[in-house]
Amino acid sequence: MTFVAPATRLRGALTPPPDKSISHRAAILATMSVEPVTIRNYLDAADTTSTLNAMRQLGALVEEHPEHIVVRGTGLREAAPIDEPIEVGNAGTLMRLLPGWLAGQEGRSYILDGDASIRTRPVDRIAVPLEQMGAVIEATDGRVAPFTIHGRRLHATEYAVPVASAQVKSCVLIAGLVADGATCVVEPAPSRDHTERLLRAAGVRVEREGARVSVVNQDELVFEPIDVPADLSSAAFVIAAGILVRRSRLLVTGVGVNWTRTGFLRIVERMGAIVLGDLEGPSDAVVSYEPISDLDVTAGPLRATVVTPDEVALAIDELPLVALLGCWAEGTTVVQGAQELRLKESDRIARVVEGLRGLGAVIEATQDGFVVEGTGGLRGGTFAAHGDHRLAMLGAVAGLASREGVEVVGMDAAAVSYPRFLGDLANLA
Ligand code: S3P
Repeated sequence: MTFVAPATRLRGALTPPPDKSISHRAAILATMSVEPVTIRNYLDAADTTSTLNAMRQLGALVEEHPEHIVVRGTGLREAAPIDEPIEVGNAGTLMRLLPGWLAGQEGRSYILDGDASIRTRPVDRIAVPLEQMGAVIEATDGRVAPFTIHGRRLHATEYAVPVASAQVKSCVLIAGLVADGATCVVEPAPSRDHTERLLRAAGVRVEREGARVSVVNQDELVFEPIDVPADLSSAAFVIAAGILVRRSRLLVTGVGVNWTRTGFLRIVERMGAIVLGDLEGPSDAVVSYEPISDLDVTAGPLRATVVTPDEVALAIDELPLVALLGCWAEGTTVVQGAQELRLKESDRIARVVEGLRGLGAVIEATQDGFVVEGTGGLRGGTFAAHGDHRLAMLGAVAGLASREGVEVVGMDAAAVSYPRFLGDLANLA
């Protein structure tokens, strides 16, 4: 339980933690390489530790140094045969990306399992394309962990993802590396493209044409050292605090500004917020690097906006913050097409609505998002995080900007990322 008092202003500079999505991908793809891969600024958190442990189980040697790790992998087709289950903990990205690789390990079977929350999150979304490619997947109740992947000789496929998801797209592209022929994924709307960029960096010909992205099977992946930028999704919470707490001025440094991650910045800009930086513009090209920028944030008045379904995947983890900002914006803020939020670490539509209402917000849940009336601010009160770290951070930001402060309950004190975030905010107040 933590009480976050209202702040009079926030000032100063901070570097958010390393990017989680890129850290997971870097460790998995490095394990698929035979040459040692150096990863600088790898995220030290529970989810990304689960990934390193899984990679060790599958045969990688992982050396951990203060500023970098070195992964000595197995190569694309030589994941170690193991009997004991791979524990993914609470890491959805690990649970959905790794099967792409394991599905192509001919004649070997792997069990993936995780914590109580991850056991409720769907894996049928990856089982369908992997079975289409020739793998056999046995999931509990046909859709959740624990599940077994029976590796087979995979055939390339063309798969139209029903709902934009970078995890599903990445899983199929990774399977495509070990399948016969050219594998193609068609997305209903763009989603984060870190996998494509890392594959490009490893010498894979990744082609994008509008909504279609394809790869061909590979003999090897060869990486230069990988630098993980600071995480835009973590930065977004600090940025929201800087926008909402009056008289604030913040510099958020070293942030990854890949355009497929900065949907939140485009949304807040439309709401009238001032966040200056050297942002990458939308493009069809698949590049081999992750752009970074410092972001200069100033508090200011906001107006309401409508977030449309095509923007959702580009800001998925930041949409709860849009609901919070909507409480301060003039007019009615609407988020549409975001039903995926119900399948995250918690039902982030129900929990955000219930949590913000308890602080005085005028907010309704819809089947696929929120409708928020701007009322000029929030009173404060008690906010339940339900063990979901992004909800806990949302409650903390609400506390700083509220009139009376917010008591955040329901966040495990052992989850290191949340206390670290509170410490960062305290340094800025
Ligand atoms: C992620 C993709 C998103 C996001 C998650 C991380 C990734 O999930 O919510 O936190 O690293 O690819 P979906 O692909 O299910 O939308």
